[in-house]
Amino acid sequence: MSIEQLESIAQAMVAPGKGIIAIDESNNTIKKRFDAVGIPNSEEHRRAYRELLLAAPALSDHISGAILYDETIRQSSRAGKPFTQLMRESGIIPGIKVDKGPQPLAGFPGELVTEGLDGLRERLTDYVRLGAQFAKWRAVITIGEDMPSSTCIEANCHALARYAALCQEAGLVPIVEPEVLMDGDHDIGICYEVTEATLRSLFASLYEHNVMLEGTILKASMVIAGKDCDEQADVEEVAEATVRCLKATVPAALPGIVFLSGGQSDEMATAHLNAMNQVGPHPWPLSFSYGRAMQQAALKLWAQDMAGNYVKAQQIVAQRARENGLAALGQWRPAA
Ligand code: 13P
Repeated sequence: MSIEQLESIAQAMVAPGKGIIAIDESNNTIKKRFDAVGIPNSEEHRRAYRELLLAAPALSDHISGAILYDETIRQSSRAGKPFTQLMRESGIIPGIKVDKGPQPLAGFPGELVTEGLDGLRERLTDYVRLGAQFAKWRAVITIGEDMPSSTCIEANCHALARYAALCQEAGLVPIVEPEVLMDGDHDIGICYEVTEATLRSLFASLYEHNVMLEGTILKASMVIAGKDCDEQADVEEVAEATVRCLKATVPAALPGIVFLSGGQSDEMATAHLNAMNQVGPHPWPLSFSYGRAMQQAALKLWAQDMAGNYVKAQQIVAQRARENGLAALGQWRPAA
């Protein structure tokens, strides 16, 4: 695949007023989400839930692509249509999570490194055959006492760069996601410093590995105070710090940046994205690739009455897409 083709997929992923829905929870992670609302974690429940989301009417008005999990990309609708076909027909680009999750980084207690490079070339070929056009790899950076270490940042960014190069070789647009976790009592200033160091290391690694930025999307965490910090920054402060940090570290050649929600409430995730886009224009489109902030309201409702609330849950996920789509344009207004 040519760089022009990768570039056009990347641009479609961040088309104006559109973002990505992340429904790539591993079977362990979806178990946590299902447990919280009392849904059994069976393959059929996972399939039915992903069908509810992917088939939500009008979802593609504001959703450009969906990130799937290995099991999901092989599943079909109840009527027997492969999810990837259903997505293509409604104009949603299929994406796939390809990392194998964070593991303890030996020698650095409390820090994590994402694994999954072994055999990745072959797995990517398989995902392309199944219809994927982009991929995702998430690295996790933890803030704590004497953390993160530069070793943790570099090991994760090195893996992200190797993954991204393999994706482009296979004809997939890599989403590179170095998530700085919100866990902890650090203030927004610490988050800024860690995010800046992480993004600098990431773009240095991408350069060293000959990754073409024009065919790459960054999935970033916002610059925000830790969950347990007494002093929470307001919406404008988060937006200002995040944009400042990205401008200092992310080359303008990148086609777009999407954010993860990382444990923020639905409304805060939308408000932060909206505030960032209100102070634009920026060198890149700023959009969303939310998991929890797209899904949690719909999941909760569906769990209460799977048959009775099916349509309502679909409407709720479409509504979250609409609100985040507006925020990607800086045109969202909070409900009165
Ligand atoms: P959250 O928006 O729930 O953080 O998930 C996004 C994601 O895909 C993390 O990799």
